[in-house]
Amino acid sequence: MSAEEQKSRAALGAIGYVEDGMRLGLGTGSTAVYFTDAVGRRVADGLKVVCVPTSEATAAQARALNIPLTTLEETPHLDLTVDGADELDGNLNLIKGGGGALLREKIVATASDRMIVIADASKRVDVLGQFKLPVEVVPFGAETTHRRVIEVARAFGCQGEVTLRMKDKEPFITDGQHLIYDCAFGRIEDAAGLADELNRIPGVVENGLFISIAALALVGTDEGVETVVPAKS
Ligand code: A5P
Repeated sequence: MSAEEQKSRAALGAIGYVEDGMRLGLGTGSTAVYFTDAVGRRVADGLKVVCVPTSEATAAQARALNIPLTTLEETPHLDLTVDGADELDGNLNLIKGGGGALLREKIVATASDRMIVIADASKRVDVLGQFKLPVEVVPFGAETTHRRVIEVARAFGCQGEVTLRMKDKEPFITDGQHLIYDCAFGRIEDAAGLADELNRIPGVVENGLFISIAALALVGTDEGVETVVPAKS
């Protein structure tokens, strides 16, 4: 079975957690696309929900599917967010932001009673860090912030390059008009400590470590959908 089929399976599994009247956060990325599609089909069949998208891309997809959208200004508290992840460990700590939407994704996930992660089987890891950790920074003083990120990382035993994300030979710009540094750490032994310290650096807006935010993961496998809860809860 392909990774795409596993993503679709996971997304369809998450639809089972959606109830009439819910306020939903819609994630971003190739797995979340399947979930938003499924919500669109349910809405066409009469499901009543309002949704907050985590990126302009997801907003465009949801609009095309006639999914009712709201904002966190109008609807500050959500029932459920369903989103993908770049990596998830056994405690359901995550790396997110491969698509650059980590800031809105973290705001929306933490505004929700519950976050469910949907993923294909390749996303499960024992230790986070094989996927490059995205760190979102404001453009002002970005090189100074870059150096501080490296200092903090080294203090946590994280080696590896920290590089500015590029797109079409220009710096990648997030929906919030920020830059992203991708950190090739390989292994992050103290993900909670690193996440806190990175966010203390002036100029860092957010990092892609989602610690103790996800309540449940639905992982598509060749056999079906595996439900994962945090090992330590
Ligand atoms: C978007 O910025 C990300 O956090 C995605 O949720 C994450 O990269 C997972 O994306 P895929 O579902 O495309 O792997």
